[in-house]
Amino acid sequence: MLNVSRLSADYGAIRAVRGVDLKVEAGSLSVLLGANGAGKSTTLRSIAGLHRPVQGSIRLDDREISKLPLHKVVRAGLAFVPEGRMVVAPLTVEENLELSRFSGRADEPDLVDRVYQLFPRLAERRRQKAGLMSGGEQQMLAIGRALMTKPQMLVLDEPSMGLAPAIVDLVFEAIVALHKQGQSILLVEQNAAIALSICDYGWVMKRGQIVVEGRPDELKQNPEVLEAYLS
Ligand SMILES: Nc1ncnc2c1ncn2[C@@H]1O[C@H](COP(=O)(O)OP(=O)(O)O)[C@@H](O)[C@H]1O
Ligand SMILES: [Mg+2]
Repeated sequence: MLNVSRLSADYGAIRAVRGVDLKVEAGSLSVLLGANGAGKSTTLRSIAGLHRPVQGSIRLDDREISKLPLHKVVRAGLAFVPEGRMVVAPLTVEENLELSRFSGRADEPDLVDRVYQLFPRLAERRRQKAGLMSGGEQQMLAIGRALMTKPQMLVLDEPSMGLAPAIVDLVFEAIVALHKQGQSILLVEQNAAIALSICDYGWVMKRGQIVVEGRPDELKQNPEVLEAYLS
């Protein structure tokens, strides 16, 4: 379980996150929605140890992780796929995956096969250099790299951004499949309709704060959510 309490974080001189509370239950697929500039990425980057929050507590199960550096957060069991798909361009797909294996907690031989099962396209392209692949394939690889650390909590920042609709479908199918396997997931997503069709809990962020939260059926009927995201 990921428990974020009263999180505040600055982006430059701006207080981009102001007192955010989020709880992602074990096994849940939870979604953080919000317009551009709402503070979603700053929230995720703070959770992942890429950004030092000004205030607040971030607990993974009972462990406080808010003051840990990134590599220790990964070892604690939280993997983050940032906006913009960080893959190592000159390395092959398989080398990218193998590189991540040692950042995580578990060195299990079948980790790569599980990634290939989830994304057969990566298996086909295992000897391809990552930098030569399409945006969608790089996003699959970025998610694959996160999975190589065998995370207890997988955190994804707008995995569908900039991808062709057919590829967006593949990425979301994979997220749903991971959820069915019991993977805990915190997802930031611009496409509220898709997000609310697959999640079991959601929050809406506005100007650094959570303004609405609830189960997807509740959120879909919330006038503010309807007006801003589902019209
Ligand atoms: N590149 C940037 N330069 C200056 N300020 C930025 C930049 N990116 C974000 N910010 C500030 O931080 C706030 C939160 O940004 P961010 O967390 O990236 O929001 P989101 O992911 O919801 O779009 C923005 O409203 C903006 O004020
Ligand atoms: Mg963002």
